[in-house]
Amino acid sequence: MSIGSGIYVAYLFAAICFILALKGLSGPKTARNGNLLGAAGMLVAVAFTFATPGLTHFPLIFAAMAVGIVIGLPAARLVKMTAMPQMVAAFNGVGGGAAALISLAEFNKADPHLLAVYEVVEVLFGVIVGCVSFSGSVIAFAKLQELMTGRPITYPGQQVLNAVIGGGIVGLAIAACVSPENWLVAVIGILALAFGIAFVLPIGGADVPVLISLLNSFTGLAVAASGFVLHSMLLVVAGTLVGASGTLLTRMMSSAMGRSLPNILFSAFGSVITAGSTEAAGGERTVKSASAEDLAVLLAYSQKVVIVPGYGLAVAQAQHVARELAELLEARGVEVSYAIHPVAGRMPGHMNVLLAEANVPYDQLKEMDEANAGFQTADVALVVGANDVVNPAAKNSPGSPIYGMPILNVDEAKNVVFLKRSMRPGFAGIDNELLFDPKTTLLFGDAKDSLTKLVAAVKAL
Ligand code: TAP
Repeated sequence: MSIGSGIYVAYLFAAICFILALKGLSGPKTARNGNLLGAAGMLVAVAFTFATPGLTHFPLIFAAMAVGIVIGLPAARLVKMTAMPQMVAAFNGVGGGAAALISLAEFNKADPHLLAVYEVVEVLFGVIVGCVSFSGSVIAFAKLQELMTGRPITYPGQQVLNAVIGGGIVGLAIAACVSPENWLVAVIGILALAFGIAFVLPIGGADVPVLISLLNSFTGLAVAASGFVLHSMLLVVAGTLVGASGTLLTRMMSSAMGRSLPNILFSAFGSVITAGSTEAAGGERTVKSASAEDLAVLLAYSQKVVIVPGYGLAVAQAQHVARELAELLEARGVEVSYAIHPVAGRMPGHMNVLLAEANVPYDQLKEMDEANAGFQTADVALVVGANDVVNPAAKNSPGSPIYGMPILNVDEAKNVVFLKRSMRPGFAGIDNELLFDPKTTLLFGDAKDSLTKLVAAVKAL
């Protein structure tokens, strides 16, 4: 077998690994192996790329890899689970920028006038989509990292400006196809960078993680385009897989939030932003709170308890003590399960990852439809740091920003217990009527502390 065909077979092997990795990542039991398989495919792909005949600039390549490793490895190891969306934004932006640079470099290397129109289109697609993904990801990162306001930013004439930039890109791209000039492609890249910023500014709040997933799919498409430019089958396959899975994830996230994608992307245009109060809510109304000892009695003498984890569980890192409480209750004959909302937390699968880390048995994790079928027979819905995903305003208040979002129907349980620190609302910034419901009891405090107190109180019974 020649070196060329050996590399081809290795790339095919890597592509198969990527496809199987995605399959593995689609379920909590197989996700870990899926991840490893994807990494193995990438290792094979990178290793065999070094065998490419005619490859030069080894010191530069190794230096670039060293820089990537020195930044990427500690970043990935140290990142907190709750900061994962901004990390994905940062890595995604780098990918989009790299894809744009590859297309640009290949264009500059060739004599542009000798390129066929389809080759110019490939370059332009990579440059435009890669640049939009890069600058859009930078803004999304800054929003999530709170380096700038996370709210939608709107201003008069925004639609017109965006249309002018978008129209300018299309017009210049047509001109570049007719007469491919280096400066024209560079100007298109700069305009695409500006468009990425303009496109992302009006998107804010809970919509930013959905946007990141969309930008992820853009990066995939830009990588696929650079694969066409470089005639690399592997880049085309890998980029298409990222593009397709990013698109599917974007659709799943927006439908789990009860919103259409155009609504998420464009609803802030021309509107006055009333993202809701982030102030302590409740006014003069009173809520019922209880001690951990009282709630321990309620839980321990129940027949069926459903734990509903949310973002606060992740912040408090309360997954281990949640499992400990569940095991104690089960030892007393209580049936315990966990209800998982698809957008609980701040990233897809957030709750599954945390609970898997705490070795919660997978068969106790109930997805939304299955969980909702069981709340009516639950004695207690124990809401641990969740808010929006259990807020009945999504069902009952047509004017609410979350109206239409499918929620976990914890209000159907006989008793609802909220573990949270205050009366502050969740990500969507809107009040939760369920906190004032007569069947609701609050245990104020950090979720981990509250669960630790509940564990001690159940043990003492
Ligand atoms: P949220 O609605 O954000 O509510 C989190 C709750 O946790 C708050 O009520 C907060 O109240 C409490 N909390 C925070 N830290 C705590 C701690 N240390 N101990 C105890 N409680 C704590 O969370 P959710 O119900 O999981 O909903 C997720 C939201 O994010 C939804 O709006 C969803 O649309 C959005 N979102 C999610 C995703 C994905 S993919 N997961 C993507 C985009 C958007 P206190 O401050 O009073 O404690």
